[in-house]
Amino acid sequence: MKQSEYLKILNFAKTTLEDYNNWGETEVYKSSQESSKKLISEEQQKTFTVKPLNAKEQLYNLRQQVKDCKACPLGTTRLNAVFGEGFENADLMFIGEGPGYDEDHKGEPFIGKAGQLLTKIIEAMGQTRDTVYIANIVKCHPMIDPSNPEKRENDRPPAPLEMQVCKRYLDMQIDIIKPKIIITLGASSTKCLLNSEESISRIRGTLQEYNNVKLIPTYHPAALLRNPSLKKFVWEDMKKVMHFLSTGEI
Ligand code: URA
Repeated sequence: MKQSEYLKILNFAKTTLEDYNNWGETEVYKSSQESSKKLISEEQQKTFTVKPLNAKEQLYNLRQQVKDCKACPLGTTRLNAVFGEGFENADLMFIGEGPGYDEDHKGEPFIGKAGQLLTKIIEAMGQTRDTVYIANIVKCHPMIDPSNPEKRENDRPPAPLEMQVCKRYLDMQIDIIKPKIIITLGASSTKCLLNSEESISRIRGTLQEYNNVKLIPTYHPAALLRNPSLKKFVWEDMKKVMHFLSTGEI
């Protein structure tokens, strides 16, 4: 075989391994590495050694995909995709429904009035926004009038189809972060993950599961701004989560 052909094959194999690795396919990576051992020398093998990506790197790669996503019409009208933020190995993950005006403008989740209340709740739990992870079901701003992203009071809940299309990104985030417990904020995210028609007032505070991760639904902070008498229920739910995080029991 000509040396140029041999190099072409080596290069192809290396890119393929890197691709697998980018998708977190460490088993494929390992077995490819094992079989490649038989074909190439130890010295050559060093060029194949691709370290598996850590959670931070995997989230970075996923963020790049989300940034360019146009899988649903929201991707064409948003100002910024709002991927999510926080600790890549967080035990606790909060999931809201979707970005609003402020989040769309800054590209960060929960930074408007509801977000400021969420920050207070997180801090009252003895955590910070850097020790938990905050994400949404949909990554782009659902607008009543999509032609006018500069208009305030233009937010709407995400449509079921928009949530179904975007949920794959959230599933990958959960898979990478591996939280011990998820808190869904409000009816939209709770219904979407649990496939349940139960009202948020009935299902909040109950122990559920999503993709083998424990999940407790609670009210959305925006609901607390409208109706402060709901705060005591959210605090009850947060105490359950804190107890679980410190004892492993629920
Ligand atoms: N409401 C949400 O559900 N998510 C945000 O990021 C902001 C407000």
